[in-house]
Amino acid sequence: MTATTQTRGDVAVITLDNPPVNGLGYETRVGIVTGLEQALNDAAVKAIVITGAGKAFSGGADIREFGSPKAIAEPNLLSVILALEASSKPIVAAIHSVAMGGGLELALGCHYRVTAPGAQIALPEVKIGLIPGAGGTQRLPRVLGLENALNMIVSGEPVPSEMLAKAPGQKLFDKVIEGDLLDGAVAFAREVADKRPLPLVRNLKVEHPNAQAYLQFARNTVGAMARNYPAPPKCVDAVAASTTMKFDEGMKFERENFIALMMTPECKALRHAFMAERATTKIPDVPADTPVRSVAKLGVIGAGTMGGGIAMNFLNAGIPVVILEMKQEALDRGIATIRKNYEAQVKKGKLKQDKYEQRMALLSTTLNYADLKDCDMVIEAVFEDMAVKEQVFKTLDEVMKPGAILATNTSTLDVDKIAAFTKRPQDVIGTHFFSPANVMKLLEVVRGAKTAKDVLATVMAIGKKIRKTCVVSGVCDGFIGNRMIEQYSRQAGFLLEEGCTPAQVDKAVEKFGFAMGPFRMGDLAGNDVGWYIRKRRYVEKPHLRYSKTADLLCELGRFGQKTGAGWYDYVPGKRDAIPSKLVEEMIAKHRAELGITPRKISDEEIVQRPVFALVNEGRASSRKASRCVRPTSTWSTSPATASRCSAAGR
Ligand code: NAI
Repeated sequence: MTATTQTRGDVAVITLDNPPVNGLGYETRVGIVTGLEQALNDAAVKAIVITGAGKAFSGGADIREFGSPKAIAEPNLLSVILALEASSKPIVAAIHSVAMGGGLELALGCHYRVTAPGAQIALPEVKIGLIPGAGGTQRLPRVLGLENALNMIVSGEPVPSEMLAKAPGQKLFDKVIEGDLLDGAVAFAREVADKRPLPLVRNLKVEHPNAQAYLQFARNTVGAMARNYPAPPKCVDAVAASTTMKFDEGMKFERENFIALMMTPECKALRHAFMAERATTKIPDVPADTPVRSVAKLGVIGAGTMGGGIAMNFLNAGIPVVILEMKQEALDRGIATIRKNYEAQVKKGKLKQDKYEQRMALLSTTLNYADLKDCDMVIEAVFEDMAVKEQVFKTLDEVMKPGAILATNTSTLDVDKIAAFTKRPQDVIGTHFFSPANVMKLLEVVRGAKTAKDVLATVMAIGKKIRKTCVVSGVCDGFIGNRMIEQYSRQAGFLLEEGCTPAQVDKAVEKFGFAMGPFRMGDLAGNDVGWYIRKRRYVEKPHLRYSKTADLLCELGRFGQKTGAGWYDYVPGKRDAIPSKLVEEMIAKHRAELGITPRKISDEEIVQRPVFALVNEGRASSRKASRCVRPTSTWSTSPATASRCSAAGR
């Protein structure tokens, strides 16, 4: 059993003990119900405390159980909560560190709740495509009021317990306990032991002066923001039910919607992604307790598109950064972009002015490698050219202190070759950020043949610190993400040749749910990056077919936003993509030269061609990467991609 029960005089203490976060899996649920029965049958017990061992009260349902018979096996979470509610002796939930999802719903079923300050309180189900399914949508509005509860449920974001405890009129927490939580909770349980009737959240009313008008406003806003995701509007519907339906009817409504959402492809995909992201943190031969090196100061070489964004990640995490460039103008340009990005955040109210200033104060610049000598790690983000990388890494080998980690942000070059430019290949690793580097969550950590295990562990840890999702890749051409993007972009290029405009492709792909279509993405990241890569690749492999439209674009100097023009036109200082007559004419001319008669292409085909290619290459590449293939310049297309392409005539 993963919940234990002990008595402290006349108070029984049920402790959830299912590491790492006291997930409410089957055994834990049995443990709670058994402990409850024991406490109810013990005449000496007057009150009960439920608490969590270790680093959480409870992180919620055990999503590994989802879809398995264990998830619904009795006692399921709803039955456990009903049993707590029905207890004839008062139950106090003692919350520390984390009460999320089912964990918070369990606490809401208790008669009282006390909390340590700083606990993270959330109903994050929306993030995996669900609504809370064990009463969260019905009970949270009753204790926090309609607006606070709806905000938490629709965003899924955690809120610190002390902040919630200060909300006017809140009934979520009965007490904030500053000292030892369990001692405080037991004392509180004794205070309330004889009070009757026992307070139940279900008996409270949802407070709001004009609930229906507010809910209509919320429906409009959430509907617009949710785009293709079905769960957020369902969160609003379920919370709305708490204002119009009787409690038990509301519970039934919540349950039906929860179960229906569980079957949607969006929910299945989000749950898969959730589990997959966790799986990426485990590296079979690098155990979690591998010692890590300290990274207190970072050097960045190159203040271009990537260098600036990479630096921002570290500044945001409070780590001082020195950026090195070849020329003062390049440094000035890079720093101005960093400032502009931060200022935009300040303007939008996403960053406070004093935080912006603190971050900029951590940033210094240099034209001299000697200024990097006290950095614990350096990330190189210079031009994608082996000769330039060679010169940079030979210099780094001379100036960096022993044990410093030397990382390259190369997109396609052989990390082992780069490591061989130094006398310390064990300290060399790839850190492949995605553009814009300060925004995109993915960080490919490229493990070289000689990369030391503690270097890999350190970079994984630092990646987590700067809030990236780190995925380890072996050394291979394009790693994982770019191999996928290559196949995606290839199909997007063919679509132009066959009759689409860039805007038509982007619109269909964005409607499908991508934040940006392939051409807007190209303009943001810089079309020249792929151009250099293609020049190398397709000279080596002239038999590989691809669309030359992107090359023609780059020959016109239209590299994207950074040159003020790409697939689209741009007005200086703005990022709006304006369809370009010139580009459309360029495509039409190229199409005519190829002898292709343009055809009308459906949105479905526009989405499927690039997205299927992306998925298939992802599967093929990640299988290879997980086996850590050694250098290969082969840019393979998986058999599945090939069959799709041939089905589509490509
Ligand atoms: P960029 O052209 O915007 O910036 C490169 C910067 O490096 C320039 O400011 C240049 O002055 C500076 N530089 C060149 N040689 C230098 C040297 N020897 N010493 C110091 N500074 C030097 O290029 P971008 O896009 O930032 O790419 C940098 C690296 O990141 C490349 O390896 C690229 O493949 C990789 N990368 C690029 C991505 C993108 O979307 N742009 C995405 C992921 C990786």
